[in-house]
Amino acid sequence: MRDLLPPDTERWQQVETLAREVFRLYGYREMRLPLLERTELFARGIGAETDIVAKEMYTFTDRHGDSVTLRPEATAQVVRAFLENGLAKSAGVKKYYLIGPMFRYERPQKGRYRQFHQINCEALGSDAPELDVEVILLLVDLLTRLGLAKVRLLINSLGCPRCQVDFKGELKRFLFAKEGWCPDCQRRRSVNALRVFDCKSAHCQALLEGAPTLRASLCPECHRHYQRVLSLLDCFQVAYEEQPRLVRGLDYYTRTAFEVQAVGLGAQDAVAGGGRYNGLARELGGPDLPGIGFAIGQERLMEVLPAPGPATAGQVFIATLGAAAKDRGVVLLQELRGQGLTALMDFDDRSLKSQLSLADRLGAAAAVILGDQELADGQAQVRWLAAGRQEQVDFKDLAAHLQGRLRS
Ligand code: HAM
Repeated sequence: MRDLLPPDTERWQQVETLAREVFRLYGYREMRLPLLERTELFARGIGAETDIVAKEMYTFTDRHGDSVTLRPEATAQVVRAFLENGLAKSAGVKKYYLIGPMFRYERPQKGRYRQFHQINCEALGSDAPELDVEVILLLVDLLTRLGLAKVRLLINSLGCPRCQVDFKGELKRFLFAKEGWCPDCQRRRSVNALRVFDCKSAHCQALLEGAPTLRASLCPECHRHYQRVLSLLDCFQVAYEEQPRLVRGLDYYTRTAFEVQAVGLGAQDAVAGGGRYNGLARELGGPDLPGIGFAIGQERLMEVLPAPGPATAGQVFIATLGAAAKDRGVVLLQELRGQGLTALMDFDDRSLKSQLSLADRLGAAAAVILGDQELADGQAQVRWLAAGRQEQVDFKDLAAHLQGRLRS
């Protein structure tokens, strides 16, 4: 778990502001949900055999004896909130986004943390392939606006439960015909064969060479759905790579599944992942309610975004000499803030030199200097720190003058 400090927090804010703006354009509205949920929600929603549920959850018993878990992901809880709050009643596709921390007890390494943050997008109420494509376009749109150029979009279809029954039988035969699987995969091949695909062991991955693929087992409807998604992506000239072994680490996926990998992230290269979860609402005790979404990992995103411009540009520092100037300074400070300028002051009566060097260190664009002479003249000295140039400005014009110069 990491402390997130300035200036990083400012970059996070910029990214989140842009994400909110893009969500608005596509008709998404925000959900903010508790960090803690009943353990059962994730065990049922994500699947007991997934690594997340089997090994990675922060689960504890509360004072009442209930088992609760820090959310490891948001999709199951968005669907829970959706059902519990009766949001299914309104017509049409319901679109939500959620930004916040998730918790997984994973082995920490670069790009993998135990508290990490996600930007989640969830669209509920339609199985139309156009919606799959809209969700992917939103993701690509957001990443492009953020300046992330080098990404790969991997895509697959996991079919519906019907296709999966046939496929799992075939896969099981393949898995049992070979020996040498890791202990986890030996268990997985009996209880949830699909999970073998996301085993991290290189040995198991090598053994999977020649394994059957879901694509060949898709029923006609799932096949049509997938082809429509791909052809729409072609229409929008979104580059993708079909990845027949992409199953994703959560059991709720059906039909479209996708991942975005960013160049430069090393081993943990998935910056976002998502897909359809048409059976999730029913699994959680609700009606048949198709859904699709994705989550971007914010830490990984930050790792690969281009460097931002200076975040402090535009600040004004007020430097004062003497008690009367300090009194005038604190009033001016609030006036400037009232005009939308970031205004700072040091209240500790230091020398002018040390106040100006503090202004420099804080990255202020201008210092407003006030002393007895300036008060008598009704004019402040404004020093533009980068250029070292100084000018006199009437107090009454000061805010407008600074604003004009800082915005130009
Ligand atoms: P996920 O693939 O488990 O999917 O996570 C999505 C993204 O979160 C990953 O691609 C990665 O960038 C980031 N992430 C995951 N674990 C960590 C970690 N330990 N440290 C840092 N970043 C991490 C989901 O969570 C699904 N709920 C996505 C979804 C939404 N599917 C449909 N709707």
